[in-house]
Amino acid sequence: MLVLGIESSCDETGIALYCTRRGLLAHALHTQMAMHAEYGGVVPELASRDHIRRLVPLTQSCLKDAGADFADIDAVAYTQGPGLGGALLAGASYANALAFALDKPVLPLHHLEGHLLSPLLTDEGVDFPFVALLVSGGHTQFMAVHGVGDYVLLGETVDDAAGEAFDKTAKLLGLPYPGGAKLSELAELGTPDAYRFPRPMLHSGDLNMSFSGLKTAVLTAVEKARAEHGGSLPESVRNDICRAFQDAVADVLAAKAAAALRQTGLRTLVVAGGVGANRQLRQRLCALTIGKEAVQTFFPPPALCTDNGAMMAFAGAMRLRHGVQAAAPAGAFTVRPR
Ligand code: KG4
Ligand code: ZN
Repeated sequence: MLVLGIESSCDETGIALYCTRRGLLAHALHTQMAMHAEYGGVVPELASRDHIRRLVPLTQSCLKDAGADFADIDAVAYTQGPGLGGALLAGASYANALAFALDKPVLPLHHLEGHLLSPLLTDEGVDFPFVALLVSGGHTQFMAVHGVGDYVLLGETVDDAAGEAFDKTAKLLGLPYPGGAKLSELAELGTPDAYRFPRPMLHSGDLNMSFSGLKTAVLTAVEKARAEHGGSLPESVRNDICRAFQDAVADVLAAKAAAALRQTGLRTLVVAGGVGANRQLRQRLCALTIGKEAVQTFFPPPALCTDNGAMMAFAGAMRLRHGVQAAAPAGAFTVRPR
């Protein structure tokens, strides 16, 4: 079966074709990052309009790359939520209209299921069950993944997502949007332990996390450093602050990941979401052991860590393979922003 995957939950339009026999045949992505950078954040209305512009050309490009035609598509999988309402509606309208025109079934999917299953797309070594750490701009949670559609939430952030904390902290350090990746580059230049920020909820005894207090700690450090340096923030100090911030986030995520593995008795960790691209976090999670037992840690390739259509096409294909009935195309559909 050939599944068309559509992702439009935020500021990336992703389209892909996944064949249940031959694997991923094509994927195309358009990121709106440059468009939103001017405003310092995602402007929902602009996002929706841009998705509308991109959906058809990206699909045509995927079909061309795969040597396929619209008529070859067997099912359409799309992100139903969570995400920006208008952006989701653009993808959902397109998905349902296309399925209706082709008379093919549709699969409205949860965006996080796409992220959760994405490591299986490229890594044949990953087997159920595993612990998944979903760490993106919108979510930070641990899940026990027992199989397709069988997910147990183990713990999550009680306030900001880790990526959100990266982006907000980057903003208050004056870094251009979206600052998370830039902050992590500067952290590589910083001196370890020049600053130390709190590790919130490290000892909370559960798998929940909190990241919103960190940016306040950073703000206090920045104000103090500015006062000491005649109002400006020297680059070396900024880099040291980035390093200390990143260390705090990585410490919390690594400690909670170890706790999740201990609690579930599982020894496989799969990391998905944009923050999974962070080099220092990757190193920490790859070095995890539980007592003397090794942990196998898997990451999707960086291109599949952030939002993309391939993970949605794949999640749709996995659902079909596991006997989930796709719905016949109908006139009505809903999106689930939250
Ligand atoms: O999964 P994603 O593309 O989108 C969703 O949020 O669903 O994740 C984007 C997030 C942003 O907050 C971005 O700042 C963060 O991932 N991010 C990083 C890095 N690259 C992207 N955070 C830390 N270090 C990075 N290298
Ligand atoms: Zn995402």
